[in-house]
Amino acid sequence: MQHIPVLLHESIEGLALTKGGIYVDCTTNRAGHSIEIAKAIGKKGTLICIDLDQTALADAKKVIGSLKNAPTTHFVHANFRHLQDILKKLKISHVDGVLADLGISSQELEVSGRGFSFRTNEKLQMTFDAHPREDVTTAYDIVNFWSESTIADILYGFADETYARRIARAIINRRMIKPIETTSELVDVIGSSVPVTYRHRKTHFATKTFQALRMAVNDEIGSIKDLLTSLPHVLAQGGRACIITFHSTEDRIVKQGLRSQEETLKIINKKAIIPSEEELEKNPRARSAQLRIVEKL
Ligand SMILES: C[S@@+](CC[C@H](N)C(=O)[O-])C[C@H]1O[C@@H](n2cnc3c(N)ncnc32)[C@H](O)[C@@H]1O
Repeated sequence: MQHIPVLLHESIEGLALTKGGIYVDCTTNRAGHSIEIAKAIGKKGTLICIDLDQTALADAKKVIGSLKNAPTTHFVHANFRHLQDILKKLKISHVDGVLADLGISSQELEVSGRGFSFRTNEKLQMTFDAHPREDVTTAYDIVNFWSESTIADILYGFADETYARRIARAIINRRMIKPIETTSELVDVIGSSVPVTYRHRKTHFATKTFQALRMAVNDEIGSIKDLLTSLPHVLAQGGRACIITFHSTEDRIVKQGLRSQEETLKIINKKAIIPSEEELEKNPRARSAQLRIVEKL
């Protein structure tokens, strides 16, 4: 399962890369974007590759390691919300560009075995971190221990799920009989609680519940907000940030977060950049992607 980088050309161009510059890829995965940054900035450049998924990061290391004239590259297994601290530890005061290609990779979704997909039967984990600490909250914890109203709020707030309350109620009823342990069990609960018409729509009826749980497990909104507020502090003057989002909740947060900092961050594209027809033909998964670019004043 290969993850095809989304809006690759547009985001690389948006970063306005310079040879010898210092760049951060906040969501490295298997270096789909990073490899292009590495090639462009060359041997004298510096690249900081961050990801919460250490298995993906290990692969990225191999990919960039095989490059001739690779820049100095730091691989950092961390949440990008700590970008300021990460750079401080590396003794880097400012960077020329930051890329964040938010959300989940195709591998994480389809073959990681961490329960991100409603199409395969796996245990309910949903952490980006492949080997999280024991005390980390998982999707299992949320569906089996969190209150009905909190679950409903997550489903509605993170994914605009119309049937949030019905699904939350059904989860509580099911877990009183037995814990909900797998993705298939959860899909079954969701299916039993939504109207028949909803079950036969083009978009799978479990899509929003799975998206919302993943966002809650990884505190995705909180992490994005922290990253956005760190941008004016980490970017050098004229430095660029490119943020790619995959759904409306994420894009709303990014759009508002960037707009609220317009005194220090100039918005380069008033309207979000979306994939070309040509890209969508090759990679239908890119269909909801949107790219926003800002520049430090
Ligand atoms: C869409 S993928 C990036 C794909 C990559 N740009 C490419 O084209 O190969 C998103 C990656 O971000 C990571 N991720 C998500 N949230 C994160 C966070 N808060 N901190 C660090 N990594 C995160 C995921 O583990 C995943 O590997």
